[in-house]
Amino acid sequence: MTTRSSEGTPSCDRAASLPRFYGPTPDTGRDSLWDELRERHGSIAPVELEPGVRAWLLLGYHENLTVLQNPHLFSRDTRRWREVLNGRIDLATARPALSWRPNVLYADGADHTRLRGPIVSALSRVDMAATARDVRRIADDLIDSFIADGEADLIGGFADPLPVLVLNRLYGLPDGYGHMLGDLTGIVFGDDARRAEDAVMRIQQYFAGLVARKRREPGRDLVSWMLEHANGLTDHEVAHQAALMNSAGHQPTTHLIGNTMRTLLTEERIRAAHSDARLSVRELLDHVMWTDTPFQVLPARFALQDVRIGDTEVRAGDALLIGFDPAHRDPAVRRGREETGVVRGARAHLMFGAGPHACPAHELARMIAATGVSALHERLVGLRPAVDPAGLRRVPSPFLRGLSALPVVFVPGEPLPLREPAVPADTGAEPTPPDEARAPTDDLLGRLFTWWRSLHR
Ligand code: HEM
Repeated sequence: MTTRSSEGTPSCDRAASLPRFYGPTPDTGRDSLWDELRERHGSIAPVELEPGVRAWLLLGYHENLTVLQNPHLFSRDTRRWREVLNGRIDLATARPALSWRPNVLYADGADHTRLRGPIVSALSRVDMAATARDVRRIADDLIDSFIADGEADLIGGFADPLPVLVLNRLYGLPDGYGHMLGDLTGIVFGDDARRAEDAVMRIQQYFAGLVARKRREPGRDLVSWMLEHANGLTDHEVAHQAALMNSAGHQPTTHLIGNTMRTLLTEERIRAAHSDARLSVRELLDHVMWTDTPFQVLPARFALQDVRIGDTEVRAGDALLIGFDPAHRDPAVRRGREETGVVRGARAHLMFGAGPHACPAHELARMIAATGVSALHERLVGLRPAVDPAGLRRVPSPFLRGLSALPVVFVPGEPLPLREPAVPADTGAEPTPPDEARAPTDDLLGRLFTWWRSLHR
């Protein structure tokens, strides 16, 4: 990659009839589109992000890596985007993936370092062994709720609630609050715009209330640890970083679990290798993160100066989409298969990003997914798809890649015997009492919980 002046250089504005990154995504996915674009344009192709709004999609493995690793050339801050500067995109009303929030994801340089420090430090204090036990307990509870039925939707009944319940535990709250957060998050991504607006407001209240409570009564949890970090984030800043952890962590983890279960259910050679312990769950996850990436495309980076990528002149202010799925299909890094059926060297996937914004929770995410997949594999005997796998519907997002539902059938089983409520991870404190007993009604979070429970009586 070399830098150049923009004078007289080709621009993405000149491309015609571009693939759309808005509106419905085809159920069949976009794998063939990536190959067609590569054939036509090489390692970087023009696409349409909103009607009349263009961006570059990075198709090459090395080009994606280079952009992620060079923050001095490519900003993460949406406010640097030409379309925002010239008023064609309003960040206040843009869809979430293209908006701006005062959190680490949209920050560059010193701001980024200041906001990321408390997140990395808090995550490093999580006791992974204790949390893995907690994840297993939550996974078992979810399985108990449907195991006697002999049928379930592994997305709605398991992969979707699991990550949010785990994160909520790491915020130091009992599960009822996690169900509330999961509910609200589901409404935000649902079809009803008016309810979604209300849910966004209530999620903001959840995090503002959580931070206020932890400021008053610190504990051994992610929010308290961020509050006590030497970088001195304000309560408002900590609330935004905690909200980001939820939004950044929830759906990718859901789709990593869902895509892994789909692979196990539909690829006989891989299922056999996993069942007879030739293929560990971690190797399986790497394979899925190479072949069926939970993020297919990630918005975005913004060129800080004119720069040449492949044969293309990118101009300062242009948006570049990170193409995870296209990168893994790049012939330059094409890989063969192991005897077990998994892609050779799949650990080189880009799924957790690279450079300064690389996912600070990749170990936690892997552990949640591995524990969830193992729990399903161990407990659901005779597990098989309930519908023709060719007809499984994908989420309609141009950015995420996962299933809307994964209906399965299995031999009906027994819920596990009643267990003690789990000890909150990493504390060694008393078992968590029932949610009702712990819900103070004299603070914002407690009032929100009381409101939510009144809807479910
Ligand atoms: C399979 C699950 C996950 C995947 C595939 C994933 C992937 C990623 C990727 C690709 C990035 C980089 C974004 C960029 O460069 O623009 C990222 C950032 C981030 N992720 Fe994850 N993530 C996962 C789970 C989680 C979880 C569980 C958490 C929270 C506990 C989390 C918290 C974050 C945060 C806070 C950032 C922003 C870091 C920064 O900007 O410096 N992620 N993640």
